[in-house]
Amino acid sequence: MNAQNSTKRAAFFLGKGGVGKTTLSSAFARELAKRGRKTLIVSLDPAHNLGDVFERGLVDEPQHIAPNLDGAEIDLAAWVARYLDETKREIKANYSYQSVLNMDGFLNIMKYSPGTEEYAVLWAIEHIWCGVGAHYDSVVFDTPPTALSLRFLALPTISELWVAELTKLRASILSKRSTLLKLNPEAPVANSCVDKSEDRVYGKLDAIQKRLGLLNEVFKKESFVAVVVNPDILSMSEAGKIREELERLGIPIGAICRNKVGIPGGHAEGPTKVLRDLPVFDYQLVSNGIRELKTLDELDIERIADHYLHTGSPA
Ligand SMILES: Nc1ncnc2c1ncn2[C@@H]1O[C@H](COP(=O)(O)OP(=O)(O)OP(=O)(O)O)[C@@H](O)[C@H]1O
Ligand SMILES: [Mg+2]
Repeated sequence: MNAQNSTKRAAFFLGKGGVGKTTLSSAFARELAKRGRKTLIVSLDPAHNLGDVFERGLVDEPQHIAPNLDGAEIDLAAWVARYLDETKREIKANYSYQSVLNMDGFLNIMKYSPGTEEYAVLWAIEHIWCGVGAHYDSVVFDTPPTALSLRFLALPTISELWVAELTKLRASILSKRSTLLKLNPEAPVANSCVDKSEDRVYGKLDAIQKRLGLLNEVFKKESFVAVVVNPDILSMSEAGKIREELERLGIPIGAICRNKVGIPGGHAEGPTKVLRDLPVFDYQLVSNGIRELKTLDELDIERIADHYLHTGSPA
């Protein structure tokens, strides 16, 4: 089948630390590129090692790696700074009384507040997807440890609920203002906006809702998610948690990758719940380790590439 028939463009490799996410996502991206599919591989891991696998330095914007293959390592600290900067500008633009707040002090705390890093990852994905991503047939994401990955994947769903409630609240404020003005055209809110289409806060909430909706669509409908496990109880049990969480979020899993098969002392069978009803792909342990790029050729990556390209919609 023609690779271009596939509508899926994103691929995420998730799993416990050290199971082989970077290794398999790199082999997968190389395979897609070899088949003529224009591919971008992006590391979202704050502790990058994608550049080491490809034996070159990678930066925040795509660099040429091989024919049809570019790579990037997201500079998460820069994305956190950009996100905080944007927030500061928004607050300044929307709230005239902000000058009484200690804005810098507030933003300094925000830098460390829960959620900031996840939002930064999310906006980096959006930037890739809606910007440079448009030039590629596939964007393969090498992900950070499970906890952060699950949080950024959950963020659009959680934030959409939250923004929907804020939108209702804003609508009710506008309607109350309007009632007040009907009763008394001289009321103190006379200079405030009453119309949803003109209200900046309402407009902003609507814009955020649209951005989150788009990311939710990407995760739920345009992504191929592969969960990587090793023949050990801990990585299997973490995969079980990933599976449960993704099912709750409505993000389908496309494949389970059993990596390092044959490792001495390994347990070939994990909890069957983890693997149930999902295509499973096995990757043998490369006995001398993966020391250079060409060793990736020893991994049987063709089957999962076929599966990704030939599955019309996520499994
Ligand atoms: N099939 C394999 N055979 C031999 N070694 C492997 C195999 N797969 C991965 N490795 C090795 O295991 C180590 C961890 O792999 P990798 O960095 O891909 O894992 P990761 O899940 O991305 O880890 P992290 O969570 O730290 O990002 C690396 O040294 C890698 O070369
Ligand atoms: Mg990695």
